Amino acid sequence: MSSLHSRLSVAFAVMLFILLAGLGIVLGQFFQLIDHEITKEVEIKYWYFLLFFLLISYLITLFIGIRVIRQYTKPIDHVKRTAQLIAKGDYLARAPIDKNGGQDELALAVNQIARNLQETSILRAMEKERLKTLVESMGSGLLMFGREGSVNLLNGAFEETFGVTREQLIGKTYMEIGLPTDFERIIEDVFLTEQVQERQIRHRQSFLSVYGAPVIGRHGNWLGIIVVLHDITEIIRLEEIRKDFVANVSHELRTPITSIKGFIETLLDGAMKEPVLLKDFLEIIQKESERLHVLVNDLLELSGIEREGFQLNKRQVSLQEIVKDAKKITSGLAERKNMRIIDETAAITVMADADRLIQVMVNLLTNAINYSKEGTTITIAALENAHEVILSVTDEGMGIEAKELPRLFERFYRVDRARSRESGGTGLGLAIVKHLIEAHGGKVAVESEIGKGTTFTIYIPKRTKEL
Ligand SMILES: Nc1ncnc2c1ncn2[C@@H]1O[C@H](COP(=O)(O)OP(=O)(O)OP(=O)(O)O)[C@@H](O)[C@H]1O
Ligand SMILES: [Mg+2]
Repeated sequence: MSSLHSRLSVAFAVMLFILLAGLGIVLGQFFQLIDHEITKEVEIKYWYFLLFFLLISYLITLFIGIRVIRQYTKPIDHVKRTAQLIAKGDYLARAPIDKNGGQDELALAVNQIARNLQETSILRAMEKERLKTLVESMGSGLLMFGREGSVNLLNGAFEETFGVTREQLIGKTYMEIGLPTDFERIIEDVFLTEQVQERQIRHRQSFLSVYGAPVIGRHGNWLGIIVVLHDITEIIRLEEIRKDFVANVSHELRTPITSIKGFIETLLDGAMKEPVLLKDFLEIIQKESERLHVLVNDLLELSGIEREGFQLNKRQVSLQEIVKDAKKITSGLAERKNMRIIDETAAITVMADADRLIQVMVNLLTNAINYSKEGTTITIAALENAHEVILSVTDEGMGIEAKELPRLFERFYRVDRARSRESGGTGLGLAIVKHLIEAHGGKVAVESEIGKGTTFTIYIPKRTKEL
């Protein structure tokens, strides 16, 4: 589009031409009035003169006129060009301020608009960035549908949970996406009822808590819906563990208590008058109450270790001493099963709680003895490297199936319940071992082969971070 300046100039030139042409025609009539006997030749001469005069006036007026027009239209043209640039999104464009042109107010106003737009666009960009960071770092999956019912926002956590990508989802309706049916139903319900929907769904191995809500604008207008998902797998798992734990404790306590109660009732019903029965039953009651005692002690022990503020009494201890004490404690049990314990512990010292380490070794040795055949051998070895000491107990026992290994250190977990109970086991021994070693900053590992034997290995770091 041509500038205002050129359009006005053309208009001015045309108008001036018409004006002067008119003037020329009018003036031409005067030739006859001034001189009645004018010859044709003189009249032509006059005409030439008039035309020449009009042409000169035309050119001079045009020249001056165009200059004046330019002076007034130049700033307007600048402002127009600036406004066009701003309209295209270049908020940095500014109109020059011409102090003499008298049009600076318009330029100032346009520049102010440009500045405001620039600030608004910076603010918008910042807001957008902030929203993006928030949406991405919120940790929970987020999916948003716009007014027209298609996806217009989702975050990385959502992509990860459902294994989809942004490009696949943006612009699609919930029915086109192909999300799990349970999840689709929640979205559908929010769309249909325009009410908040909160439900738990299962997706592959995870449990998700899904919260869907309509997004209502300030004036009550419907803007779409938002769906947020939290991964609650860990909470559900902990809840299961808690339930299991309560069930297990109750079960473990019930067995000896039922037995004690039964025998006491039998005694009271008359059996106590028979000295042989009396002695037998009392012995059973003693054994069962001993079991209860061990169980409650172990439970207290575990909860003590787990409690915050659990303190280890650390000092430099000799592994040989630890192993010697543990062997002494379990020697009666080993002798009864005619088992040999080979001690290959090297002269190594480590910063640890001696009593706790002995407790760990006694637990491992007791297991090695209980779950091995008579006459087999147990080997205790100790090594060290630059970072840690490694203590292992190897038996030639029955071994543990690979699928059992991951759960071995759980409380009350026993591979063979009947056999373990027979040996007086509560299933808490390895849980205690694990907690005690972890309290030392170390870890426990187990390797086993059915029928060949099992090796439990303890790693204790030489330098532990002081808590
Ligand atoms: N050396 C081993 N060889 C084979 N199985 C073992 C061995 N050590 C542990 N197990 C298995 O792991 C289970 C858990 O052991 P854990 O020491 O925690 O409990 P427990 O021996 O049954 O009872 P306690 O609390 O009295 O130790 C045992 O029931 C047993 O089935
Ligand atoms: Mg045990």
